[in-house]
Amino acid sequence: MKPYIYITRKLPEYVIAPLQKEFEVEMWNQEDAPVPRDTLLSKAEKASALLTMLSDKVDQELLQNAASLKVVANLAVGYDNIDLEAARKNGVTITNTPDVLTETTADLTFALLMATARRIVEADRYIKEGKWKSWSPLLLAGMDIHHKTLGIVGMGSIGEAVARRAKGFNMDVLYHNRSRKPEAEQSVGVRYASFDELLAQSDFVVVLAPLTKETEGMFQEDQFNKMKESAIFINAARGPIVNETALEKALKMGEIAGAGLDVFETEPVNKEHPLLQLNQVVAIPHIGSSSKETRHAMMALCVENIFSVLKGDQPKTAVK
Ligand code: GLV
Ligand code: GLV
Repeated sequence: MKPYIYITRKLPEYVIAPLQKEFEVEMWNQEDAPVPRDTLLSKAEKASALLTMLSDKVDQELLQNAASLKVVANLAVGYDNIDLEAARKNGVTITNTPDVLTETTADLTFALLMATARRIVEADRYIKEGKWKSWSPLLLAGMDIHHKTLGIVGMGSIGEAVARRAKGFNMDVLYHNRSRKPEAEQSVGVRYASFDELLAQSDFVVVLAPLTKETEGMFQEDQFNKMKESAIFINAARGPIVNETALEKALKMGEIAGAGLDVFETEPVNKEHPLLQLNQVVAIPHIGSSSKETRHAMMALCVENIFSVLKGDQPKTAVK
């Protein structure tokens, strides 16, 4: 019997064609909706490999009932949806998709920063709603980006790629990270700051840290309090790093000036979400790595990783 691979979302046929030549491959039949939990659990029971989305929970319950499972290839750089400890215990290799999405996610993060600072979304709505009656001196006046201070929380590859973009805008770049990055300090010209220092000094605070026990709930009322009243907060990492009630309050009280959000505590959000009611919030639906080129590269990398593990080779991008 050929090893069985289950893919938790409908992907283009040509992406999975190489797998189909050698394995039995089944995909969830929808592009826009996640596989129901009980379907995933029952498919996992007979699978040698799973190709998963960040919205699928790969936990103890799933892993302990998946006797043949050798690899879970997650279509994301983040893997907070996966219980690594349980995977290790059950001898399952986990892979993610770093590197291929770095520059694309940095592009989006910078676009979100710029859109929030210069009120691009509001301006688009304004003109399309027929509100443009005359040129006026302070019409939709936003905030400068160039020569301002950017504070990056979470200095991995994406953080570095954002810092390089910021340098092109003559920004002063601070970063805070678990560990110092002397190489980035040298090559990109960024400065390490304590978390409090970064919050106090930055005009833009950009979160690009992974979601871990240490980063969960890192931004509370206190942290927004420490930021400048003119500061703009950008989250392109994971929603639960931020207490959304605290963020909403900070925006309403004018403790910070605006926010650009690619991620939310619980996704998807519906249009009644309190943060979506605020004009100074630019919201987008977790599309950091979503360019056609990059999403295809991510899919191809997942396929390659599954091949490697099922052939007994080292996968290119295993999570350690
Ligand atoms: C998306 O958020 C990812 O982790 O790739
Ligand atoms: C990209 O979507 C990221 O959150 O890293």
